[in-house]
Amino acid sequence: MLGSLALRQAANPAPPSINGTRLINHIDALSEFGKNSEGGVSRLAYSDADRRGRDYVIGLMRGAQLNPTIDAAANIIGRRAGSEPSLPPILFGSHTDTVPEGGNYDGVVGSLGAIEVAQTLTENKIATRHGLEVIIFQNEEGGLIGSRAIDGELTEKELALVSRSGKTIREGIEYLGGDSKNLADVRRKRGDIAAYLELHIEQGGILDSEKIDIGIVEGIVGINWWDVTIEGFANHAGTTPMNKRQDALLAAAAFIQAVNKIVTNVPGRQVGTVGRIQALPGAPNVIPGTVVVSLELRDLDRSKISMLYGQISEEAQRIARTHQTSFRFEEINTNIPAPTDARIRKLIAASAEELGLSTKLMPSGAGHDAQDIARLAPVGMIFIPSVAGISHSPREFSRPKDIVNGTNVLLHTVLKLDQTRLS
Ligand code: HGY
Ligand code: MN
Ligand code: MN
Repeated sequence: MLGSLALRQAANPAPPSINGTRLINHIDALSEFGKNSEGGVSRLAYSDADRRGRDYVIGLMRGAQLNPTIDAAANIIGRRAGSEPSLPPILFGSHTDTVPEGGNYDGVVGSLGAIEVAQTLTENKIATRHGLEVIIFQNEEGGLIGSRAIDGELTEKELALVSRSGKTIREGIEYLGGDSKNLADVRRKRGDIAAYLELHIEQGGILDSEKIDIGIVEGIVGINWWDVTIEGFANHAGTTPMNKRQDALLAAAAFIQAVNKIVTNVPGRQVGTVGRIQALPGAPNVIPGTVVVSLELRDLDRSKISMLYGQISEEAQRIARTHQTSFRFEEINTNIPAPTDARIRKLIAASAEELGLSTKLMPSGAGHDAQDIARLAPVGMIFIPSVAGISHSPREFSRPKDIVNGTNVLLHTVLKLDQTRLS
């Protein structure tokens, strides 16, 4: 057996193709977990649908002889041994949780594509020098939680935050089979990972509109989240004159407009969003006394995020004075921008070229677990087109041919990486 594997390596034949029909069937099957009536999924991290979807994925990993385990942070990891045990493993994967009312491709293509790559290697008896780990990170959409655990950044405070499933992150980790008291076990340090690769849908419309097969990601934006609590005074909506109000929702409205204006007023690709709002006590006949809104800022440049935040918090103080309210900002999640590794970008480009596919170098406006792993190891990301640039929506769609192309690029890149010394 080992002899034939060695032969295969020595002859270095062109890699086989992945099984596209099988991969698309797996994507369709996973879309049943958390399916909604609009044709998308709500597979929120730590929900019942999330857990059942992960069980399905674990079954696929077993089928691919990946020997899956759940780590203490509840990431799913399937391992395949390498022929040179002294080498650190090459990791590749993505996530299977979704936003509320999400689509069937974000995270799923990279997760099931990674399993398909491993299965193709196994079926074709291809040995690699490095061990391979297919990793499915938990709760990517709630702030890259699984990958933050791997680089040791998950704080006690974050573990106590209530996720969109209603469970705290700590409860969610236990629910998925992790062990939140032993998160130190999952921590890896520089040198523990040879490289990390992630295949993902673009989630924007550039590749689709320019008819390009593969995006090679040059860097992933930083993402900062705050909870902004605005305190006014709850009072009777019928008896309190208009000029005597401390309406926290009115102040929130001014704040939302200000965020948009400040972020739009400087040149560049930065974005800012208020995506969640809660007004209390929340009755038609009570002036809102407390409002909590989210604030999200993203850019490839960390200092630009700080500069925008500075302007926004200053403007908030002005709004507070006008509306006789107060603003309090609490930072709840920070993911710093991350460049990808130039050497891996070249390997992805060479793989795409071998397969006759066109490529474009591009930034990622979406966050990915790769940006956390970038603090530990060289990373690379492969994008495929999202039809009409729609994502985080039931209408998210990537064509089967593009999914198959991207997965073949992933396979070729893994094999090239295996022959490369990066550190
Ligand atoms: O929110 C994001 O950018 C990602 O899809 N998690
Ligand atoms: Mn997403
Ligand atoms: Mn994603």
